[in-house]
Amino acid sequence: MSPGENLDPIPDCFILQPPVFHPVIPYVTTIFGGLHAGKMVMLQGVVPLRAHRFQVDFQCGCSLYPQPDIAIHFNPRFHTTKPHVICNTLHSGCWQREARWPGVALQRGASFLILFLFGNEEVKQVPCSRALPQGLWPGQVIIVRGLVLQEPKEFTLSLRDEASRTPVMLRASFTDRTLAWVSPWGFKKLISAPFLFYPQRFFEVLLLCQEGGLKLALNGQPLGSTNLDQQTLERLREVRISGSIQLYCVHY
Ligand code: GAL
Repeated sequence: MSPGENLDPIPDCFILQPPVFHPVIPYVTTIFGGLHAGKMVMLQGVVPLRAHRFQVDFQCGCSLYPQPDIAIHFNPRFHTTKPHVICNTLHSGCWQREARWPGVALQRGASFLILFLFGNEEVKQVPCSRALPQGLWPGQVIIVRGLVLQEPKEFTLSLRDEASRTPVMLRASFTDRTLAWVSPWGFKKLISAPFLFYPQRFFEVLLLCQEGGLKLALNGQPLGSTNLDQQTLERLREVRISGSIQLYCVHY
């Protein structure tokens, strides 16, 4: 038996590629094991003062010719009055429909850190409903991830019980830029924190069930809690999401 033969093979997804420092641009490398859910690619750099654009292409192969398909073309552009990012896909030599992201947080002359996180979440249609067959118990978590649409009006996350009542609803209003817990009688308890939803930006709402209520975090920032007795929590049967968002994930 040769050394190492008794070791279990390491699955591709656990291969951590060594970082490459100061690579010469254009830089091409292979992503070991391919781009699967859970993969993260981190990029650090500085945008030159006179930069017009740069691009990061996640492409299907390294050949120069024929040009490989590009699954994700991430292309910040700085030469226009409003810097923006273009995302697109190149299929059989043809660009598909561009997605344009305004308000890019990248600037000429400034350093940046970009994290590409690859998941396997598909867009779900809103309104969207998920069953909570056992209700909510301390320690359980509901996670909702989505993308705010361009001209949003509101986003709601309602928790409904077996009698289709809504003991509690979380409502983000884009018209007055407020986030609030809404009671079944329409009473609004405003959450006093900066409004963290922005058009065309991703968000993550996390609700943690704890004794006596639900704790809320938005984009990883704790935003307090709302009181609900355990009986009410146990009787919840459904989480319903609606509003001006593209929904990617409802995890329970
Ligand atoms: C084209 C540009 C390409 C690529 C593409 C994306 O206009 O020449 O380099 O950025 O847009 O849609």
